[in-house]
Amino acid sequence: MAVNRFWQLDRRPQGLDFASALSLREEPLATLAEGEVRIATQYLSMDAGTRMWMGPRTDGYQPPLPLGVKMQGLVLGRVCESCDPAFPEGTLVRGFGQWADYPVVMPALAGLEALDDTIDPREHFGTLGMNAWTALVGVREIAAIRPGEWLVVSAAAGATGSLACQIGRNLGARVIGIAGGPAKTRYLREEIAVDIAIDYRADDVAGLLAAIPGGVHAYFDNVGGQLLDAVLPNMAHYGRVAVCGMVAAYASDTALPGPARFDQVLMKRLRIEGFFIPDHLERGPELIAQLDAWRRAGTLASRFDETIGLENTLEAYTRMLSGKAFGKALVEVG
Ligand SMILES: NC(=O)c1ccc[n+]([C@@H]2O[C@H](COP(=O)([O-])OP(=O)(O)OC[C@H]3O[C@@H](n4cnc5c(N)ncnc54)[C@H](OP(=O)(O)O)[C@@H]3O)[C@@H](O)[C@H]2O)c1
Repeated sequence: MAVNRFWQLDRRPQGLDFASALSLREEPLATLAEGEVRIATQYLSMDAGTRMWMGPRTDGYQPPLPLGVKMQGLVLGRVCESCDPAFPEGTLVRGFGQWADYPVVMPALAGLEALDDTIDPREHFGTLGMNAWTALVGVREIAAIRPGEWLVVSAAAGATGSLACQIGRNLGARVIGIAGGPAKTRYLREEIAVDIAIDYRADDVAGLLAAIPGGVHAYFDNVGGQLLDAVLPNMAHYGRVAVCGMVAAYASDTALPGPARFDQVLMKRLRIEGFFIPDHLERGPELIAQLDAWRRAGTLASRFDETIGLENTLEAYTRMLSGKAFGKALVEVG
């Protein structure tokens, strides 16, 4: 392992054109500094939120990555060299690192965690990963779903959304999943077992939601924009909107305009709350205990959309953001 291949962010991408913005480069392995850990990557997590890190917006929850740096994201692999005794060589770990064969991280800054080595490692990006933590906090606490209530989830066939649907069902809710295209709505009905699946590209979303007597009690929003406008007038009184993401806006690097039906917040006495899972990292053991119980019981599962090879990362990333991937998009690196 003399050489490290890595993706470098050369310029701000336009839309989904990542090939013009990132380049695959090589460098010799550098000597580790005190406290650093080198990871041999097994999987990279493709996350919609990282599209914002590539863009120019400075008012986001995280400053944009400077140009010329290695692209960052969640990585999973084995420690192959360590200057931190808490993470000895051979430990299976997950954390924020570089899109690279051999990311180098400072464990505290990377949120590095040692992982259960006895299960399929992909589950640490699936049912036990950050998307799952997000879905659990969002559905159970921010959307505060209760048994018998109606929960709507957008980008429902994606990594976070498919888990949010299942968590809603596990908590006793009736679940409506919104996704793009008939294959995804079939997947939602047959594999995720939602009560109602809506294809936002073909169906009248607001019209279908209007058929729910009394309205929907909670909305786990991954998308923002027009879908939020379709849901708001169909919320029940005292409904809750958990604002998880606004993927409709990421490729254009612009802020979404406020919801056209903001009046509904007063008329229905709604609560709208944004949340960000890195604010909850210290709660990992508690979140994992619940997620793992559901995983073992067979009521929480992830489907993986795998692309093989670090050199194919941009294809995997584009598949995820353009809606071609089902479930959790991963790159298998080694
Ligand atoms: N708050 C947090 O801490 C946190 C943590 C993790 C993720 N998130 C958010 O969760 C959301 C999903 O992220 P993910 O990483 O799990 O990705 P993902 O859902 O696996 O993939 C993104 C999905 O977004 C959908 N999409 C893309 N453009 C769209 C548009 N214009 N309108 C409607 N749907 C669109 C696509 O599905 P379709 O085929 O259905 O269009 C695609 O599958 C993102 O908004 C992300 O920022 C938030």
